[in-house]
Amino acid sequence: METEKLRWYQDAIFLELNVRAYKDSNGDGWGDLEGVRSKVGYIKSLGVDAVWLQPIMPSPLNDDGYDVSDFRNIFHAYGTIDDFKNLVEAFHEHNIKVIVEIIPNHTSEEHPWFQASRDPNHPEYEKYKDYYVWADNDKGYPDARIIFLDTEPSNWSYDEKRGQYFWHRFFASQPDLNYDNPAVQQEMLDIVRFWIDLGADGLRIDAPPYLFEREGTNCENLPETHAFLKRMRAFVDGYNPDVLLLSEANQWPEDVIEYFGDGDEMMMNFHFPLMPRLFMALAAQDAEPIKKILERTPDLPEGCTWGTFLRCHDELTLEMVTPEEREWMWQVYAPDPNQRRNLGIRRRLAPLMDGDIRKILLMHSLLLTMGGAPFLYYGDEIGMGDDIRLFDRNGLRTPMQWDDSKNAGFSDAPKEKLYAPVIDFGEYSYTKVNVAAQEADPSSLLNQLRHLIAVRKANPAFARGSFSWREFVSGKQTVVAYDRILDSERILVLNNLTDRQVTGALPEDNGKYIDLVTGKQIATGELTLQPYEFLWLISAG
Ligand code: GLC
Repeated sequence: METEKLRWYQDAIFLELNVRAYKDSNGDGWGDLEGVRSKVGYIKSLGVDAVWLQPIMPSPLNDDGYDVSDFRNIFHAYGTIDDFKNLVEAFHEHNIKVIVEIIPNHTSEEHPWFQASRDPNHPEYEKYKDYYVWADNDKGYPDARIIFLDTEPSNWSYDEKRGQYFWHRFFASQPDLNYDNPAVQQEMLDIVRFWIDLGADGLRIDAPPYLFEREGTNCENLPETHAFLKRMRAFVDGYNPDVLLLSEANQWPEDVIEYFGDGDEMMMNFHFPLMPRLFMALAAQDAEPIKKILERTPDLPEGCTWGTFLRCHDELTLEMVTPEEREWMWQVYAPDPNQRRNLGIRRRLAPLMDGDIRKILLMHSLLLTMGGAPFLYYGDEIGMGDDIRLFDRNGLRTPMQWDDSKNAGFSDAPKEKLYAPVIDFGEYSYTKVNVAAQEADPSSLLNQLRHLIAVRKANPAFARGSFSWREFVSGKQTVVAYDRILDSERILVLNNLTDRQVTGALPEDNGKYIDLVTGKQIATGELTLQPYEFLWLISAG
């Protein structure tokens, strides 16, 4: 592994953020690109290397921007193309890469392509009539599951104007594009080029498994879909080989692995199967779910990396677990049925951890040391809460809590003009949970996380060392223990999943240890971990 030439993303730490939620620069109640620009210094201070901006293109926001009505522009409240260029420049000055969303599977129903495609009297009907998947009835592709189970009765919806049904894997307001049409494929490659030309260093390819449909299949992960993604990769490699293609294929490991191809498809995929198992292991106080899924996780082709994460803008998806595991996870982490969404849990990290800073840090210890490229979700670094009164997954997309002034320092607008209410109730209220307060407190979650990120970055074995399991307590898996080794750097990581003290033995073969987080020396032999304590121990010879 040491000899492999590393690509920039393989060592990187990412921050996902929603422009709308970050910082309002012009007092209209909506976050904007200028607002994000004013926070580049803060983002840099976290130690992240790249920022993933959730959709910034024009959209009616029925699916929070994942329903695009113009792939070549900026949503009006966020600013202009020039603002985007300025933001990219500001990030680049700080050595931070910028990832933009491309949503290839579908558009908004408001997209001009769909408006033309649905209307036989439209002047451009002929050009666009095959841009979407139309049928005379709703009987096709019966084996395709419904993803947005809570809202959609079918993957087909009837369109009055055209007098036919159209296919959609998500909301009915998001018709799927027809990838059997070569013009659609070409459009998407042109859109990829457009954003690379504007300075994007990477593209997150939203929901790629569903591009093609074939009768007699579940219409996911089809060979035709992979062929198109390989075409996209070949295009990007030829155009600008430094650009990252990051895909969001929420599938089992053996299906996700296909999205890397032979190193000729996507460079990075989110590790969807691992994510819920980190939560499962913590709740069960047992490393087994993590071990099992990593055993099932194949090695990656050269130049490829997993994107790892704890939470993101979506529900904590439980699609890649068994029905029994899902039921149990719901009981543990979403006791109120209102906290559940589709096949997942619509809650943020801190509330899932009962606001317990020890558990939040422990989860980050796993995230930062197990390998892959870690993704943080904006606001989780200060332990923001959620508001399940809001529709769909909007409860975990509330305004960033900067300080305890009006509107959490997010916006000067009158409260009722904010795109969503700030969290102003309970233990996660912005008066208690905010950046300013945590900046001032050396032991805050924010400052502890910054330190952990800095330690991870200073020790490359965490990102790309070899991985091997260790045993800490004989015959028990209450502690997730593993070695990360790169050249002469040898680090033992211990994560106590339990709410109890756990005593075990430090392996003698690693020699003396130094705790990387505190700098203290630790003797070999017996050691007691406090509840939820983790240690990153480097062998000091
Ligand atoms: C992806 C996005 C999600 C969106 C869906 C449909 O899964 O992460 O937020 O709803 O695609 O576009």
